[in-house]
Amino acid sequence: MPLLYITRKEHFNAAHQLWNPKISDEENFTLFGKCANPNFHGHNFDLFVCVKGQPDPDTGLVMDLKKLKIIIREQVIDDLDHQNMNIDVPWLKDKMPSIENISVAIWNRIAPHLPVGVALHKITLWETQNNFVEYFGDQAE
Ligand code: NI
Repeated sequence: MPLLYITRKEHFNAAHQLWNPKISDEENFTLFGKCANPNFHGHNFDLFVCVKGQPDPDTGLVMDLKKLKIIIREQVIDDLDHQNMNIDVPWLKDKMPSIENISVAIWNRIAPHLPVGVALHKITLWETQNNFVEYFGDQAE
């Protein structure tokens, strides 16, 4: 049976600040650049959720992408869109809201809700036109 990968794209706007209190102000600005600005700033994030599975013999589908859309919106987008990720999102609390950490948190939000026979393959999160992260889950799993 063929194994296929299908992807749903979603979008959200959110604010954050990257700041490590253990290092100096100067080191923070050198490391994080504009993302260290003290009064927060926004990005337009593009999120790609890729799942894998075998097509159902009756429907020809790995998964109904409308259902994947609903999972992503309920578990992720509704919490993040137009929010401050340093303050407003309980499941990002006490995490540096880098796209690395956000991607891992998004994986953990979505994976438990997928139907039987469908597995999460990759989370891709674009922060700017030039910068994005890909997460394939913990390799030890
Ligand atoms: Ni930023």
